[in-house]
Amino acid sequence: MPSLLDEIDPLLHSALADMTSATDLAALERVKGNWIGPHGQFTSLLKQLGTLPKEERPAVGKRINEAKNQLETTLAARRQELELRSALPKEPTDFSLPGRRRALGKLHPLTQVTDDIVRSFRKIGFVVADGPEVEDEYHCFDALNTPADHPARDTQDTFYLAEPDGAPPGSGPTPLLLRTHTSSVQIRVMEKQKPPVRIIVPGRVYRRDNADATHNPTFQQIEGLYVDQGVTVGDLKGTVEFVFKELLGSDVKIRFRPHYFSYTEPSFEIDFSSSLTRKMGKEWMEIAGCGMVHPQVFQNVGYDPEVWTGWAFGFGIERVAMIRYGINDIRLFYENDLRFLKQF
Ligand code: DAH
Repeated sequence: MPSLLDEIDPLLHSALADMTSATDLAALERVKGNWIGPHGQFTSLLKQLGTLPKEERPAVGKRINEAKNQLETTLAARRQELELRSALPKEPTDFSLPGRRRALGKLHPLTQVTDDIVRSFRKIGFVVADGPEVEDEYHCFDALNTPADHPARDTQDTFYLAEPDGAPPGSGPTPLLLRTHTSSVQIRVMEKQKPPVRIIVPGRVYRRDNADATHNPTFQQIEGLYVDQGVTVGDLKGTVEFVFKELLGSDVKIRFRPHYFSYTEPSFEIDFSSSLTRKMGKEWMEIAGCGMVHPQVFQNVGYDPEVWTGWAFGFGIERVAMIRYGINDIRLFYENDLRFLKQF
């Protein structure tokens, strides 16, 4: 019968060979169990140590331990190798293949138009102001000299917020509503700031309109307000003309038509004409409301109307974008159809 010492090397070599030929981690775990697990072949060799005569035990024991250490080192190295291999891609990488192109996002056409308008006004010293979309009636109407019986305050065409006690929207002592125009921000800014004022206010507004090609219950406006001493309608006209020429081309012509707004006196509507309006089948298109700030509005915010003068205007951004890009339906801006949005 061969001695225990002679069995060690052949077992060690078979075990090492098994480890090297294991091609994945599961196979390697099986090999480990076969050899150095509780019932492994190498483990049983260790167990036989007790059957040897005392004087042989140290030499054989030492050899077995050396072999076991070698097995464990090899096992660990092989495990690391297989782990690394399983993390690598199965197929070799072909660096000559074309890359995967990521589609670049873009700004929404309304954002682009707003940015362009803001840029033009910044050139002539205006700053952007902001105000809340949930407004009170005072800032949206009263402070703008718009009386309680004005149709714009009708709950039929204005979004009033529900009253805290469950009473019908708009019926409480201080009703809140979604602002119907950005003009409310004129008041908020003048309440906080001493004149002179030079602001533009891009923002979202809300009206209970049914959506059709030219109406949407929410849309964007830009408000402008200029307050200083000795301001005239000429300043208003020159400013509007400058901005629209920058925006829509130098062949733009502007005309002011008398109109009525309760917060300006005199008030006008602005029409403009260009190759773009002619393309849409019209010589003149209405684009904005404007006028000289009403003395009552100045009084409401604590500005002395004998000292300060100013103009204000407001226009719909969608209207400008529709003209600029030749779009005939306002709803397209809000549907977020990528086939539409990708064109800008
Ligand atoms: N707030 C008006 C609207 O929503 C537009 C407007 C008209 C704004 C005249 C003004 C203004 O500042 O002076 O239709």
